[in-house]
Order: sequence, then structure tokens, then C-alpha cells
Amino acid sequence: MKGIILAGGTGSRLWPLTIAANKQLLPVYDKPMIYYPLSILMLAGIRDILVISTPRDQSLYRSLLDDGSQWGLSIRYAVQHSPNGIAEAFLIGEEFIGGDSVCLILGDNIYHGHKFPDLLQKCASLQSGAVVFGYVVNNPERYGVIEFNDRQEPVSIVEKPDNPVSKYAVTGLYFYDNSVVSYAKSIIPSARNELEITDINNIYLKNGNLRVELLGRGVAWFDMGTPELLLDASSYIRTLEKRLNCQICSPDEIAYEMHYIDNGQLRKLAEKYKCSDYGRYLAELAETSVFRE
Ligand code: G1P
Repeated sequence: MKGIILAGGTGSRLWPLTIAANKQLLPVYDKPMIYYPLSILMLAGIRDILVISTPRDQSLYRSLLDDGSQWGLSIRYAVQHSPNGIAEAFLIGEEFIGGDSVCLILGDNIYHGHKFPDLLQKCASLQSGAVVFGYVVNNPERYGVIEFNDRQEPVSIVEKPDNPVSKYAVTGLYFYDNSVVSYAKSIIPSARNELEITDINNIYLKNGNLRVELLGRGVAWFDMGTPELLLDASSYIRTLEKRLNCQICSPDEIAYEMHYIDNGQLRKLAEKYKCSDYGRYLAELAETSVFRE
């Protein structure tokens, strides 16, 4: 399975924070925002990744993430010239996806939860159809909202409804089989002039091919669309990292834990960041786990 991180957009709900700086590079406590969705793909076992950004910011992502080989990944880059919608990712990424299935994650989404990596790996083994995640929110009108029938089966998804029929939002992590590319070609822009991911999900739903995994209280999800959510996410990560004495969503640590890199490679990364607590954490990890390999 291939992975796409969509890090385009204008970040207008965060202005003036995002006038000169790219949203998905803003700090979420001690790491750039894009480290979090990248970590989710890595935890799912996905190592072939396309980062889609605005033309202005592509070089910034390259300097941060490089070609991914430092983490045992392959990272490629593409641009979205204007904010034409999430589903455009499959048109931009058509060649990259080739004949594979694909996981798309929005560059401003954070997921954290016990056993969540197990669920991710199960989803990444998907052979046909699609999987999306439902999460209870207090402001469903801001999201794609799932309507369920009496048997708790999803019957439709409505993008940003004025009168939401449930509190279940579709989050920004999607697993699709290869049909997603042709579905993306078949949809037309919505009233807000975007190719909607919700239209793609509704095609899968109509075909009886969409699985909705409801994320319960074991998983926290943030999309960082507003300054308040950005701060909430930072506080959440800070509190957990301090109490648990570990890193949340460190690509360096995950690469090591998933055996994408070895102890020597981890030491090199630790050395690179040696002036920060982050680097010291990696150095200690390399030191204490040296006999584990
Ligand atoms: C997008 C999707 C929406 C989804 C949300 C999750 O919203 O269109 O269906 O619920 O991401 O973050 P947007 O970022 O366009 O507001």
C-alpha cells in the first residue's frame, strides 16, 4: 500500500499564523505538525510516501523530510497548485499510486491511542473497498458527517451539513483500493468548488464497499484547523510525553521500532539532534536498546 500526505491548502483559519509559514510545518509541542501524520503512515507499515504541498512550500518539506531514507522510507513530492479539494490528491498522485491501494492522511491530523497501530496495520492490508474512521465531535457541521440506520450501519455521509444527523465526523485518514483513482476522475467540484473526499466515500458506500471504524474513547483525534485546536494538540502531546516519559509520533523512534533502521542509524539521527531534548531522547533509546537487536 502507498501513502499520501496532503499538506496543501492556505491555512486560512489560522491566519495570520500561516501567511508566511506553512501550516503543516507549525510546531505541535516539540515537533513539526507533519511528523504526526507521517508517523501514522509508518505505524501502518507504509514506507512508500508522497507528500503533496503547495508550490511555495515544497522545498521546505524536502529540507525537513528529504528522501526518507534516513527513516528507511521512500518519500516523494508533488504539488497541488490551488486548493481544489482533498480528492484531487488521487489525480495528482495517479502515477505514484500505480496499481496499488493507497492510504491518504491529511497533514494536519493527529491520532493517538493504545492499540491504534494494530488497527492501522489491519486497515493497511485491505484488498478491496475502503475504510474511514468515525469520531464523535461537538461541532459536526464542520466535518463530513455519517448518517446511520437503526442497525448502526452507515447509510450516507454529508459534507458540512447545516443540520447534522449525527455527531460522528469522518476523520482525515482514509484507506482505499485502487478504484479510488477512477472514482476521483468521475466526481465534479462541489458548491465550494472542491473535489470532495466525501463524494468518493459515498461512491464506496453506495457500492457496499465502505467500512466505517468508529474510534472510541481509546483514541484521541485532532485536526488542527484553528489556533485553539493547535494549542490543545500541543498541550495533549506535552502532557503525555512528560508523564509517560516517551515521544509521541517521532518518525525517528518509529523507524527504529518498526525495524526500518538499525541501532547505528538511530545513533546517527540522535547525533544530528544532540542539542535538543529530542536528540537526547533518541540517544538514550539507542543506548538502552543496543542489546535488543
Ligand atoms: C475535510 C473533509 C471532511 C473531514 C475533515 C476531517 O474537511 O472534507 O469530510 O471530516 O477534513 O478533518 P476540510 O479540511 O475541508 O474542512
